[in-house]
Amino acid sequence: MIKNIREISNPILRSVIAGIFLGSLVTIPAALAVQLAKSPKDSNVESNSKLAVYTSLASTVIGSVVGLGAGKRKDDRERLSDDTLANDSVEVELSNNGWTDWRKFIVMRKVKESDGITSFYLHPEDNGAIPDFSPGQFLTLKLDIPGQLKPIIRTYSLSDYDLSLMNYRLSIKREPAPANLDVSPGIASNFMHDSIQEDSIIWVKPPAGKFVLDVYSSKPAVLISNGVGITPMIAMAKAVARLNPLRQIWFLHGARDGNAHAFREEVNALGASHSNLHIIYCYSRPAATDTGKYHHQGYVDSALIQNIVVPEMQKLCGSTEADYFLCGSPSFMDTLRNGLRTWGVPDRNVLFESFAKAMPKAAKSVQDITTSTSNAQEVVFSKSGQTHTWNPADGTLLDFAEANGLRPEYSCRAGVCGTCMCKISEGEVEYQESPSASVESGSVLICISQPKTARVVLDL
Ligand SMILES: Cc1cc2nc3c(=O)[nH]c(=O)nc-3n(C[C@H](O)[C@H](O)[C@H](O)COP(=O)(O)OP(=O)(O)OC[C@H]3O[C@@H](n4cnc5c(N)ncnc54)[C@H](O)[C@@H]3O)c2cc1C
Ligand code: FES
Repeated sequence: MIKNIREISNPILRSVIAGIFLGSLVTIPAALAVQLAKSPKDSNVESNSKLAVYTSLASTVIGSVVGLGAGKRKDDRERLSDDTLANDSVEVELSNNGWTDWRKFIVMRKVKESDGITSFYLHPEDNGAIPDFSPGQFLTLKLDIPGQLKPIIRTYSLSDYDLSLMNYRLSIKREPAPANLDVSPGIASNFMHDSIQEDSIIWVKPPAGKFVLDVYSSKPAVLISNGVGITPMIAMAKAVARLNPLRQIWFLHGARDGNAHAFREEVNALGASHSNLHIIYCYSRPAATDTGKYHHQGYVDSALIQNIVVPEMQKLCGSTEADYFLCGSPSFMDTLRNGLRTWGVPDRNVLFESFAKAMPKAAKSVQDITTSTSNAQEVVFSKSGQTHTWNPADGTLLDFAEANGLRPEYSCRAGVCGTCMCKISEGEVEYQESPSASVESGSVLICISQPKTARVVLDL
């Protein structure tokens, strides 16, 4: 029974049921005891009855409180094994309470976190339970944006780890146009900042993604981010700090200055109440008013980890073997991955998330999107009844489908989010890079693949 109560994900329902359960557990024997004690000669019957009533009430309240806090986080339920990091093919499959496709969510709160980053707290419009997630996972949003031919789909990391699981929080950076290009600024992020307000409704798919941290591992964890890459790290830091206080975590974050630094007070408060969290902030161009708010001037780099984190880790943990999590700008992650590799950290201990931004085909060079294949191949789009000849210059199967008038769903165009996943009923594809997203058997990611066999049949 207790196990079943812990499985209830809605905290209010869990609290009520736990209260009734514990209350009745105490009330029934108490009532029996009072009944047995009843005798005409017994002058204490009234006070015995009162005692029984108070005991029952107290146990109901205790049951409710315990029930509220006893919900199982998914990590509790489905601990990932210690070798999760080492095994790329490990699928993170969490039950989503039957939620598999688009579901409406209401924006409950919109909170500015820094100059460019704003958080959105989402609650399901149907008021049903929301499934748990592993820290590091993301949500996929679908936005109807005026002027766009079709809904825009984008993925955003869950930036909080609230044990009550009442809302999800996403934190989104407003994406400006690149300084040197005459193109429009980011479509979805600017729409979220400018047009999505409290009470707005948006479509959301369940949590997904393989960039996850095993909360219950005992190995030290080093969370390294810059800019908006901080979002999954907050969920990870909160999960470990609260659920595995014996595990040491280092939280390294780089920002331009205090105005660009989101969540500083929130992370500081977490560090102040959890001694297993060690925080290092680096500001590349600190303002005079930032004095005392950061630890180092410059960038987060592998030298900082070697000179500061590793000696601390050796002292506290007696070992320097750790799991490293990276999320930030592409150049930041390249530099750190190379630095860690050079210094001897095995790749299997380094997990990274790329916030890949969808680039239209015109923004890529043909060399980028073609590989060894040189022959023309036949591609059948079975749902739309079209057959076309594909050549290497046509690029990915997603580019090719779009060039032929199809509008498949996509988000990152980089094999990270899984939005473009499509069933393949004949033939094989070749990946230009290995997918970071989970790919279901019998399906392919068309944003990073091209035909491998003479004929490919896609469910498009
Ligand atoms: C797994 C994952 C998790 C993520 N988590 C977060 C998160 O927590 N927070 C967050 O803020 N973001 C996150 N992202 C990034 C997010 O999904 C979006 O990519 C981001 O918000 C930009 O989307 P957009 O629609 O605003 O910009 P887009 O419209 O996709 O444009 C992206 C950039 O390209 C520029 N551009 C437009 N046209 C061209 C062109 N022709 N040539 C060159 N450049 C052009 C735009 O000006 C803009 O700078 C995540 C991404 C992934 C894959
Ligand atoms: S669009 Fe993200 S994996 Fe293809």
